[in-house]
Amino acid sequence: MAFRHALASELHNRSSLLLEADMTDLIIRASHDSDSPAITRTYAHAVIHGTASWELEPPNEEEMARRRLAIVDAGFPYLVAERGGNVLGYCYASAYRPRAAYKATVEDSIYIHPDAQGQGVGKALLGALIQHCEGLGYRQMVTIVGDGYGGSAASLKLHERFGFTVIGIAKSVGFKHGRWLDQVLMQKTLGAGDSTPSPFT
Ligand SMILES: CC(C)(COP(=O)(O)OP(=O)(O)OC[C@H]1O[C@@H](n2cnc3c(N)ncnc32)[C@H](O)[C@@H]1OP(=O)(O)O)[C@@H](O)C(=O)NCCC(=O)NCCS
Repeated sequence: MAFRHALASELHNRSSLLLEADMTDLIIRASHDSDSPAITRTYAHAVIHGTASWELEPPNEEEMARRRLAIVDAGFPYLVAERGGNVLGYCYASAYRPRAAYKATVEDSIYIHPDAQGQGVGKALLGALIQHCEGLGYRQMVTIVGDGYGGSAASLKLHERFGFTVIGIAKSVGFKHGRWLDQVLMQKTLGAGDSTPSPFT
């Protein structure tokens, strides 16, 4: 546990760990508090117009900053993609479920500003997040694709691209923008997977 916190904090503090994405001018880096306005705007658009997030009211900047800090303080990576000084999107890992035996499993969340979607930013961010999570010793990554076969084709495709497979569908468990929504559950094995015991004991 101490190792996980130390490594996570190192990842967040060392600018030398900035990862060059496969797009020349795109930088993937650890998020800072000063990224909160851009993160808030990107998420607000998804909440107001989309069905990937099932919140109905967009949280304000203070709340988004609080959520980011809670994730970072828990030792999880929270990354942003930046080009020319503009934050284009963000992604983070968080606990899949709170109980102790789930500790080696993380859930990912990823949001790209609408003006930057479909340009490979999601791929660069998710690739970096997976790399960080494997470095931290996590063994499984799960994503819950809200409105999976409805309005979330890009998210399904993005996760498939990284080897996630669909492991289940919860039918009509959400209702937003006047229609019922399904959740598609996807999973990817990280690192040694279940071939060795969990490092989080
Ligand atoms: C889903 C999302 C994160 C993908 O990021 P992105 O930067 O737009 O995606 P990329 O350009 O990196 O493309 C990733 C893959 O998805 C495919 N893709 C992108 N947009 C697509 C679309 N609208 N429909 C179908 N496939 C699409 C790309 O072709 C690519 O696959 P490929 O490499 O096999 O060609 C982004 O579109 C987004 O933020 N959407 C709204 C919020 C959301 O759905 N978040 C996920 C919640 S966990």
